[in-house]
Amino acid sequence: MTQKDIILETQNITRYFGGLAAVDDVSIQIERNTLHAIIGPNGAGKTTLFNLISGVLKPTSGNVIYKGQDLTKLPVHRMIHMGLGRSFQITNIFPNLSAFENVRLATQSMRGDNFKILRDPSKIEGCDERSWDVLKQVGLLEKAMIPGRFLSHGDQRKLELGMILAPDPELLLLDEPTAGMAGEEVPELIDLIRTVQEEGSKTVLLVEHNMNVVMNNADYITVMNHGKVLAEGAPAEIANNQEVQTAYLGGLYEIDVVK
Ligand SMILES: Nc1ncnc2c1ncn2[C@@H]1O[C@H](COP(=O)(O)OP(=O)(O)OP(=O)(O)O)[C@@H](O)[C@H]1O
Ligand SMILES: [Mg+2]
Repeated sequence: MTQKDIILETQNITRYFGGLAAVDDVSIQIERNTLHAIIGPNGAGKTTLFNLISGVLKPTSGNVIYKGQDLTKLPVHRMIHMGLGRSFQITNIFPNLSAFENVRLATQSMRGDNFKILRDPSKIEGCDERSWDVLKQVGLLEKAMIPGRFLSHGDQRKLELGMILAPDPELLLLDEPTAGMAGEEVPELIDLIRTVQEEGSKTVLLVEHNMNVVMNNADYITVMNHGKVLAEGAPAEIANNQEVQTAYLGGLYEIDVVK
């Protein structure tokens, strides 16, 4: 068996809020160039885990190792420069800026020193070209000049993906990228994420509630419940896991694995 190429791992990571262990002794490994999904019921600790990985929260105990370095010892702004990009559960765009300006701001703010954000972006080498490329990649070229607030919710989510992609991260942390989207818009965004991941040789860690989406697109799944890892494995293994069926799915979902 070949050894796995692990881009990120958590080692016994725990985070308490008062007496509640929102994330409780979680050790997971994310293999490079895969789409790894985290699923679990509301309150399972998925977002808290993302916050620990991306440095938004400090762990009560445990470590996050990214490309061999312990992230829990680094300030947040260093992480972006190390190739880590993340989204939040709520949409995070600038509503009054155009789609292009949103992406350009993301491109610009991640390049070199932080003061570049105060400079005229059109004068920063490669900034405009990169922004157009990203808009094309997420399918928003025709909507480049539309202010963020006038875009459909689905397009806002694509724009947000573009903003994460702009600095060309190696690892993308996407917390419910399809949240609030109309059902028919979901497959398109997931296809887009999958394409970005495969064609760009990127690693994606994704929290997603839509079971069919997860089952049909993830390479690997971690199931969380009450802050702990309940199960992990390939989609088919998870779909057939009795513990997952009872604890999480409760027989309410029909899992339909096409892959
Ligand atoms: N800042 C906080 N202060 C106190 N408790 C918190 C805080 N953030 C999260 N929690 C609690 O920690 C637990 C895990 O929350 P978390 O948001 O990580 O769950 P989740 O799996 O992302 O849920 P959802 O699917 O609803 O997004 C919940 O019980 C939540 O109420
Ligand atoms: Mg959450």
